Amino acid sequence: MTASTPQTMGQQFGRRSWAEPWKIKMVEPISLKSRAERQQAIEEAGFNTFLLRSEDVYIDLLTDSGTSAMSDRQWAGLMLGDEAYAGSRNFYNLVEAIQTYYGYQYIVPTHQGRGAEHLISQALIKPGDTIPGNMYFTTTRLHQELAGGTFVDVIIDEAHDPASTHPFKGNVNLDKLAAVIKKVGADKIPYVSLAGTVNMAGGQPVSMANVRALRNLCDRYGIKIYLDATRMAENAFFIREREEGYADKPIAAILKEFCGYTDGAWMSAKKDHLVNIGGWLAVNDPDVYDSARNMVVIYEGLHTYGGMSGRDMEALAIGIGEAVQDDHMAARIGQVRYLGELLVDWGIPIVQPVGGHAIFLDAKRIYEHIPQAEFPAQTLAAELYLDSGIRAMERGVVSAGRDPATGDHRYPKLELVRLTIPRRVYTQAHMDVTAEAVKAVYDNRLQTRGMKMVYEPKYLRFFQARFARL
Ligand code: F0G
Repeated sequence: MTASTPQTMGQQFGRRSWAEPWKIKMVEPISLKSRAERQQAIEEAGFNTFLLRSEDVYIDLLTDSGTSAMSDRQWAGLMLGDEAYAGSRNFYNLVEAIQTYYGYQYIVPTHQGRGAEHLISQALIKPGDTIPGNMYFTTTRLHQELAGGTFVDVIIDEAHDPASTHPFKGNVNLDKLAAVIKKVGADKIPYVSLAGTVNMAGGQPVSMANVRALRNLCDRYGIKIYLDATRMAENAFFIREREEGYADKPIAAILKEFCGYTDGAWMSAKKDHLVNIGGWLAVNDPDVYDSARNMVVIYEGLHTYGGMSGRDMEALAIGIGEAVQDDHMAARIGQVRYLGELLVDWGIPIVQPVGGHAIFLDAKRIYEHIPQAEFPAQTLAAELYLDSGIRAMERGVVSAGRDPATGDHRYPKLELVRLTIPRRVYTQAHMDVTAEAVKAVYDNRLQTRGMKMVYEPKYLRFFQARFARL
């Protein structure tokens, strides 16, 4: 008799459900505050979900960053922390895990992703340089600008169209890149900034064929490629699912092949790697390593901890191996899709196809009567919290910030609200409750008015800006 799998058991009943490859060992109580309490909380937060207190939130879909549940093995790893100032054994475990799964040679640990973005930007960018990339990310672009560079978007056009169902909306448009090289000259391009499952496009993947072609083009001009590997394990899942020749390859092998086309990577380990804090920079060029390792001691900590404790590095080293397990990733992305399918069935406009880490509600199409200057996505995130205590994040005009040259708002084509799913944290029932809440807000859309910004910080304004109803 052959063993049953979830699929074969499902077939008996004419269904093919999947389930998470884990069971729950510890729980954290959550509760829903009353409508009056939520009203007060969101007003005190200036209608910015970043300024809410966590205890006022019921289901927290603000971000998948640092919000994952660690495994029993990772928790056990915390007990093995070697808290020596220099040369902690956990650092060497971390280095080995990154070399094994990503294949890069030299590793600099950092406290989180933006620490690594800072180091790589300062190490490679000179004032006046241009950095082409497959759509901006907020902190990534800011570090490139602070180093004196200018980011230029070279992602395919489909990425800016929420309705396009292109399977690899994260791809670089090589013609756009060639035009940038022609315009500014290869010597003004320190590297191409390539991201896996492009966050701001809706968690959309890059294909293996695209990174291979990108490598060829860059080699012709001597241009480097550095990868934002934050959600690259998720990207590998999509390659296996959608790209010819990869259906039978493990996610781990796809990840390593992809990284092999790049010169190095920075990582926010708070996402794919299933830890609450941590990051790293990994490179193959010994000179870049030397320069980053020299800077890390100024900004993060010694080059064998970079702002993390020994126990953090141990949990991270273990998480790297867990992140590339095929059953883990199938359940992780399966849960995101489950939520997306409920919303699509109810006719609610979301970014298609559903990406890796989140559902992105299309606030432009939901609030057609609210102009972008009145912050439709910010409004939608506030309404969702009010309705149900669910916390989401604006990813539209507020996140895009101002153009440093003109001082005007940058008006991105995508005006979105991100329902970001933490890894291994919520159940299918939480997804049902979330979908029903979005539906309630959607049904009430014509009664909703936009907002004005009443406080605006200079950098990364979405984190701390305040709003009032019009
Ligand atoms: N790159 C990407 C693609 C990210 O999504 C993030 C963080 C970073 C870099 C910066 O890393 O937060 O560890 O300093 N994204 C979080 C989010 C904040 O909610 O998407 P960090």
